Amino acid sequence: MNNASAELKRISDQITTCQQCPLGRMRTKAVAGEGPPDAEIMLIGEGPGYHEDRQGRPFVGQSGKLLEHLLATIGLTREQVFITNVIKCRPPSNRDPLPQEIEACTPYLHRQIDLISPLLIVTLGRFSMAQFFPASARITRIHGQPLRQEGRIIMPMFHPAAALRNPQWQSAMKQDFARIPALLEEARRERAVQDAAEQEPDDMEQLSFF
Ligand code: URA
Repeated sequence: MNNASAELKRISDQITTCQQCPLGRMRTKAVAGEGPPDAEIMLIGEGPGYHEDRQGRPFVGQSGKLLEHLLATIGLTREQVFITNVIKCRPPSNRDPLPQEIEACTPYLHRQIDLISPLLIVTLGRFSMAQFFPASARITRIHGQPLRQEGRIIMPMFHPAAALRNPQWQSAMKQDFARIPALLEEARRERAVQDAAEQEPDDMEQLSFF
């Protein structure tokens, strides 16, 4: 196991036994997230629902089916992306996560982001969007409008559960997903330029030997 996989596993083990907020006592299983440690794309939902809580895996219910369908429209499978949530334990009756639950849980999410270092983050729904966008941002206005932040692209989208409730949002989600391949290509180019710039001082030092 390489370093990133080992560290991701450590985070997942910590999540499994976490008691940082009261949801820790209510869960069946915590849902740390899953996917390749070097995934280029990370999808971040809100929190586990009933089925996720039972299985300990993200997006395995109806929302997951829609997500898999949307990924397939751009030639991707769920195994190729890292899928996680803002909070890792299910709130009772699927209520919205409370601010103190989000505060207790997000250090795990940020450690996952740092380790995986995805080129593109897709936020699914308003709680995920709020991790990256100002509190005044409204999903109905900004979905599909990418933001560049810390060397990566953040793409805000509707939550699949919201799109299941409001079928007119499904075509918006499909259009937003259709932009992913080109955005990913852009992010790859930008990361390559950034990596080259970081290399340059060393190259210059080496050249000065000759
Ligand atoms: N909704 C979410 O936000 N996350 C899941 O994992 C499942 C449903």
